[in-house]
Amino acid sequence: MNFQDSDIQDSGIKMQRQSRRLLVTGGAGFIGANFVHHWCHKYPEDRVVVLDALTYAGNRHTLLELEAQENFRFVQGDICDRTLVDNLLREESIDAIAHFAAESHVDRSILGPDAFIQTNLVGTFTLLEAFRQYYEQGGLKEGESQEGEIQGVFLHVSTDEVYGSLNPDDSAFTETTPYAPNSPYSASKAGSDHLVRAYYHTYSLPTIITNCSNNYGPYQFPEKLIPLMCINILMGKSLPVYGDGQNIRDWLYVLDHCRALDLVIHRGKPGMTYNIGGNNEVKNLDLVHLLCQLMDELAPDLPVSPAKELITFVKDRPGHDRRYAINSTKIQTELVWEPSVTVEEGLRQTVKWYLTHRDWWEPMLSQEYQAYYRQVYAVK
Ligand code: NAD
Ligand code: DAU
Repeated sequence: MNFQDSDIQDSGIKMQRQSRRLLVTGGAGFIGANFVHHWCHKYPEDRVVVLDALTYAGNRHTLLELEAQENFRFVQGDICDRTLVDNLLREESIDAIAHFAAESHVDRSILGPDAFIQTNLVGTFTLLEAFRQYYEQGGLKEGESQEGEIQGVFLHVSTDEVYGSLNPDDSAFTETTPYAPNSPYSASKAGSDHLVRAYYHTYSLPTIITNCSNNYGPYQFPEKLIPLMCINILMGKSLPVYGDGQNIRDWLYVLDHCRALDLVIHRGKPGMTYNIGGNNEVKNLDLVHLLCQLMDELAPDLPVSPAKELITFVKDRPGHDRRYAINSTKIQTELVWEPSVTVEEGLRQTVKWYLTHRDWWEPMLSQEYQAYYRQVYAVK
């Protein structure tokens, strides 16, 4: 067994950790890739295997610098492919799965829910079944190490959208808020959460669920609000704000999210759910104004200036949830985590990243993207 001293938390608590062999699904997507970079940088002794189908949302280039490393492997494949998953678990002696792979965009789930059911439900089920069989056949050791670090873990990365929509005066979602998903996306994620929970209760599989709020930061596909607005401002295109722009989201900087997931993998309790939020509730319209100001300040020679002149109110998203807000007290107290940046600081970093990484996002504005854009915004 290979033990190493490593500072696993930013809170300063030191522990001896056992090196790990991680399977990361969806590691070429936005959060998955940030997580893989975080993990490989912090724990170079660990084996990291990424399984990703490279759908429209996946980008292998994001992982290019890691591919040269001996401890890293990229596998292009579908989480619904049981044989592939079985082989990877055994071949790589995996002891932790960090499951990010999903269809993740609400607007796409409204246009075509099929892929959401397939990947989010059938895919999660396939991974759970494969991991269960592997676990029961002694593929990994049960229990905890001396330091309290869990030996095997299936981390299911989920969303606050499973809890439904809040009114302005409602308290933020906690881990015991009843599920009330409203979109095909959130319903498929809710279903997958229930499966993960059931595998803990029925088969004692060491599963953990995290439900987080809206992430933002580097490597986010430009269909999501923040990168879409940044790129449209650079191109002088209109900034489509849904409905009255008063919907509220709780913004979480993706690197803060990755730090939280790191703690959950090392210290989380099997069978538990942890909510992860940014403590940053903002109305969409205010967020777009903030982005416009930052772009005016940081991007020289914008085609339209001030950028706020591009703001356009468009038809609302069907079933648009009004407000999400996360109460993160449990992870803050039990695992000693807190978000490190305000939305103003995180947005400034993010805008700078999009300004300096045109080579990353420009190729993503593909014909598929243009077709999707025309369909969702009904523009010619
Ligand atoms: P993303 O859409 O950017 O990336 C998803 C990745 O999964 C892509 O690389 C894609 O190629 C891969 N993938 C899709 N279907 C696959 C399949 N069948 N087999 C293998 N790989 C497949 O998503 P994201 O924003 O990084 O989200 C990651 C996870 O976090 C998702 O489970 C999502 O539900 C959850 N989540 C996201 C947010 C957010 O704000 N982005 C917030 C809460 C929860
Ligand atoms: O809350 C967590 C969820 O956050 C994740 O589970 C999802 O995977 C992720 O996509 C995100 O969902 P949202 O629907 O909240 O994110 P999106 O970026 O699509 O939209 C954010 C808000 O901005 C939402 O209220 C809709 C609005 N919006 C979005 C777009 C793309 C607009 O007003 N105009 C737009 O063009």
